[in-house]
Formats: sequence, structure tokens, C-alpha cells
Amino acid sequence: MASKIRVKNLYKIFGPHPQQALKMLRSGLSKENLFKKTGHTVGVHNVSFAVQQGEIFVIMGLSGSGKSTLVRCINRLIEPTAGEIYVDEKKITRLPSQELRQLRQKKLAMVFQRFALFPHRTILQNVAYGLEIQGVKKGISENRAQAVLKTVGLKEWSAAYPDQLSGGMQQRVGLARALAVDPDILLMDEPFGALDPLIRKEMQEELMELQEKVHKTIIFITHDLDEALKLGDRIAIMKDGLIDQTGTPEEILIHPATEYVANFVTDVDRSKILRAKNIMIRPTAHVSINDGPRVALRKMKKEALSSIFVLGENRTLCGIVTVERAVEAVKNKETGLQQIVQTDIPTTTPETLIQDLIPVAAAAKVPIAVVNEKKKLLGIIVRVTVLAGLIGGGENNNNVGSSAESGNNVKESARSMDHISDPLPTSITGMG
Ligand SMILES: Nc1ncnc2c1ncn2[C@@H]1O[C@H](COP(=O)(O)OP(=O)(O)O)[C@@H](O)[C@H]1O
Ligand SMILES: [Mg+2]
Repeated sequence: MASKIRVKNLYKIFGPHPQQALKMLRSGLSKENLFKKTGHTVGVHNVSFAVQQGEIFVIMGLSGSGKSTLVRCINRLIEPTAGEIYVDEKKITRLPSQELRQLRQKKLAMVFQRFALFPHRTILQNVAYGLEIQGVKKGISENRAQAVLKTVGLKEWSAAYPDQLSGGMQQRVGLARALAVDPDILLMDEPFGALDPLIRKEMQEELMELQEKVHKTIIFITHDLDEALKLGDRIAIMKDGLIDQTGTPEEILIHPATEYVANFVTDVDRSKILRAKNIMIRPTAHVSINDGPRVALRKMKKEALSSIFVLGENRTLCGIVTVERAVEAVKNKETGLQQIVQTDIPTTTPETLIQDLIPVAAAAKVPIAVVNEKKKLLGIIVRVTVLAGLIGGGENNNNVGSSAESGNNVKESARSMDHISDPLPTSITGMG
């Protein structure tokens, strides 16, 4: 698939002789030593990534890691030292100034942390500004501005002046101004960084709702991991000008690529990020609804299970049979499973957040069945994975939970999630 934005081997070095410094960096000199020896600062260090149309791509890293430099290279506010940038697969790193202006005005819009609104212009005039400088007629630009203000929930404020608005509302005006020119791409450099935590949360929600409507391609910069995990379809984690890892929130939590990333995500509440599909495992055994109780008993014995899932055609879930009921059925010389299968068992969708499974797991006596909309069994979730996960990943970043639980109806051996991706197709685990 063609990328919306593609960045390839990008470097930005600050100082009087960046090309010489680049040679030294490429030949292996570290960022620190380059600075010590030559006074050059590495802002962006050989960064590559691609962003797809409609994606929210988050660049996360501590202050000074190179996020702003990187995003400013993308709209060419900063001239890269080396490397290429493509927008819609068109190289923009060698663009004539006329085309560059077009690109900035029409395709890319930037939202900053502190948006400089014009104090003597009304909110409407502020939002219409971007269109005005493109030469759009006043009537048209103000109509458009009014529509965008409605989208960001500020319709009633169009005649007000910036100082009448709260910080959060001003930031929304900034967003509206960026949206007014209907850009394909929004570059957002810590847009909520100056807001109070509560307002910030609200703005995050609003941005996600807005994105449902507008489907822009968004590069969103933050130093806040929670914000990154919440907003990002994918996240790139930056450190010292380098990208340590690019991946979905789940991938980053489950398989941190470096120690730095692992340390970063240690304290994250996984139950708010990971979903049923991320922790489900393949059931060790199941029986067909057409099997008899003897078959069920044999399989349970072999796998040391005290209950077993019963499946119909196409792996549709019929229910569960317990060892007690199976034994009873054999004694009574019953032949089918229909009479003894329990159908009122806990189920969930693959997309359910683990957080929402906690009460289910606490009340359940058997594993939770993960089923799709056709009731096909995709996997099972052992209760310990959910409940022990509450105690946090800590040193054990690969596991949601890691202790075995005994006395349960079914053998609930908690396994490392590393193993999940093996037995299940990637389309199910979502980790491919
Ligand atoms: N104009 C500049 N001149 C010199 N060094 C700069 C300049 N802009 C940024 N830097 C340096 O580049 C590095 C990355 O900065 P920046 O991109 O602002 O990081 P972030 O946005 O992640 O906080 C820092 O070490 C910073 O000091
Ligand atoms: Mg910055």
C-alpha cells in the first residue's frame, strides 16, 4: 500500500558544518562525542518510518529526543541534513519554493502547543486566516470557518475574542484553524502539552471523535506515554534522535524492542490497553457436540482439565461440559453431549479491553470464551491472565499474569503471551 508520508534515513544535525559532522556520525561517532569534539548537535539520527492514510501516528519521546525537529523537517520548516521525505509518494525534500508553499498551505497543517491566536481578531476571523492567505474570498472563507468551528464544538463562540476563551478552547480554535484549509495531513506538536490534565483528557477524547469524522492522516507528538497509547494507531518511540521502536500500542507493551522502551512501559496499566485478542490462548482441547461423554472424559483426563469446550460446525461455540456431568452421563449410559452441555458460560469479543473483563473473570468459574460475531471460538482466556494482570507487568513485561492458579475447573496454566502468536493465526491475535 502506498504511504501517505514516508521518511527515509533522515538526519538533522545542528551546527556550522553539518555534512562533515554527518560523516563522523555515520562512521560511528556517538552523539555525545560528536558534540564534545565538534559542537554539533544531532537532532534526528537516521530515522525511517511510513504513515498510512487515515492513521494517527504518534511520535513519543522525552524532551530533547528530536520530535519537534523531525516534524519540522516533514513540513520543511527545517532543512534536513540528509535523507528523504515523501508525501503521497512524491519526494518533497527537493521541492521548488512555490510548490513547497502549496504543500504547506493545502496538504499539511501544523498545530502547536501554544497556538498564537490573533488577539484582535474574532474566533471566526482567526479560523478563516489560513484560507484568507490563500486568497479565498471572505464570504467563502468565513462560511468554511463557521463549519469547522461547529465540528470542534465552538459554534457559539465565533464572534468572541481569544482572551474570552479558556486554554482548552483556544487550543480547539488552533485545531479549527488547521482544519479550515482541509489539509490531508495534520502535524500536531504536543498540542495538549500546556493543558490541565482533565482538559487534556477531554481534548484527547475530542480528537479521537473528530478523527472518526474527518479521517485525516495525523502525526501527533507527545512526551506523555498515556497520551501516546490512547491516541496512537501506531507509536514511534524516540530517544536521542533515534527511533527505538515503531509499533501498535499492543506490540510495544507486549514486545518492547529495547530496554529503554521496556523501562518506559513498565508502569503502564495494561488492562486499559490490551484486549481479549492479545491475551487469549488456544484451548488445549475441545470436543465436538457430536462426540459422546466418554470422548469428553478421555480428553479431559489426557489434558488434566476439569471441563472442556464443546464446539459445533465451523468451530461455533456450543458451551462447556464439566467432568462431573460427563461422569454422570456415562453412568446413566447417555450417549450425546446435548443434554449435559452448559451453555450459560462467559464469552467476550476479541476487541474487549481487559479492564472490562476483570469483573467477568472474577465471577467466572471457567475460562472466558473469545468468540466472533458468528459465535466461532477464537480462543480462550484463562482467568489468572486477567486477574493476575492487575498486579502489573513490572519486571515481567512479556506477561500479563504469570502465576498458575490452582483449584479451578479447568487447568488454567498462564502462559507467556509470546506463545500466543504461535498457535493462533495472526489475524486473530492481531500481532502480525
Ligand atoms: N535550532 C537548533 N539549534 C541547535 N540545536 C537544536 C536546535 N533545535 C533543536 N536542537 C537540539 O536538537 C535536539 C532535539 O530537539 P527537539 O527536536 O526540540 O526535541 P523534542 O521536540 O523532542 O523536545 C535537542 O538536543 C535540541 O537541543
Ligand atoms: Mg518539541
